[in-house]
Amino acid sequence: MPEEEIEPIRWEEGQLLLLDQTLLPERQKWLTIDTVEAAIEAIREMRVRGAPAIGVAAAYTMVIAAASISAPTMSTWLSLLDPISGRIAAARPTAVNLGWAVQRSVEVARGANSPTEAHERLLALAHKTKADDVATNRRIGRNGAQLIPNKGGILTHCNTGALATAGYGTALGIIRAAWEQGKRPHIFCTETRPWLQGARLTAWELVQMGIPGELIVDSAAGWLMSRGEVSAIVVGADRIAANGDTANKIGTYSLAVLAKSHNIPFYIAAPISTVDVGVATGEEIVIEERPPEEVVNVKGQRIAAEGISVRNPSFDVTPAEYITAIITDQGIHKAPYERALRTAVHQTKAMAG
Ligand code: MRU
Repeated sequence: MPEEEIEPIRWEEGQLLLLDQTLLPERQKWLTIDTVEAAIEAIREMRVRGAPAIGVAAAYTMVIAAASISAPTMSTWLSLLDPISGRIAAARPTAVNLGWAVQRSVEVARGANSPTEAHERLLALAHKTKADDVATNRRIGRNGAQLIPNKGGILTHCNTGALATAGYGTALGIIRAAWEQGKRPHIFCTETRPWLQGARLTAWELVQMGIPGELIVDSAAGWLMSRGEVSAIVVGADRIAANGDTANKIGTYSLAVLAKSHNIPFYIAAPISTVDVGVATGEEIVIEERPPEEVVNVKGQRIAAEGISVRNPSFDVTPAEYITAIITDQGIHKAPYERALRTAVHQTKAMAG
């Protein structure tokens, strides 16, 4: 395991620091974020990315927003916070954690008696969001590790490790927890075109953790499954509908369909806060479309014919019927998902008071 834990989001001396994920693995550069605009740019340009990490960054951005407003009365102050909150929440559309974190912050601010008190409460909430995320991920890891075989191949997609969270990771956290328990599965991580979260970030994290893994191009997954080299697939989630339909990085759906046709268990790993019971099915989930440049360029170098049109959906929805189980901090949930997920969400809210 790494001597130093990867911690991509920090708050030091009143400033938000983000490890710029657009530059990894070549460069480890920390960005100092001191304006709401800079934070929104960092989220939109994926300098910070991964659903839980975006949520934590958003909670700290609300602290920056609070510090930037001055108003004579609390009600004026809140009315100025409102549009800023809306802009932060709109930075990326698919991951539920962004809007969730902003909404929680707005509620906390509304409960304060003065801007100073609101600022203090928002900072405490951001610190709590960050600490809770790491604790939650460790629980997901423990819950999911029992499904990981001692040997055999485990395939994961995109990056769901410490970099995508406040620390430890979700799907990659399960792989890590299994490894910490002494299990020794063979890890395959997909490249994850076009942004290369797998090649650039998951591969880097595996190397940092000392967990041997093999990087594959996305299109190699089906072939490896057909050869019996994959025993299970575990991926993360950006938003889980009440019926279990799950939005995650583009390519997840293809992996799930392949898994079903090869009889391979397909697991989703996410904190219970990623479950959006306000969304009945995956049909209602907004899928982010990202700029064509991500597809036609690799590291600033054009690879596609000039003049070609591009479609770049950044996420897809995997229907619940393809999912063997959803692993959260609350346990391992199986179909029918609706009741299991609603109960788990309800229990979590009750525990939080
Ligand atoms: O576009 P990204 O890199 O933010 O997408 C990340 C994913 O799709 C992850 O699988 C998901 O957010 C879960 S991260 C623990």
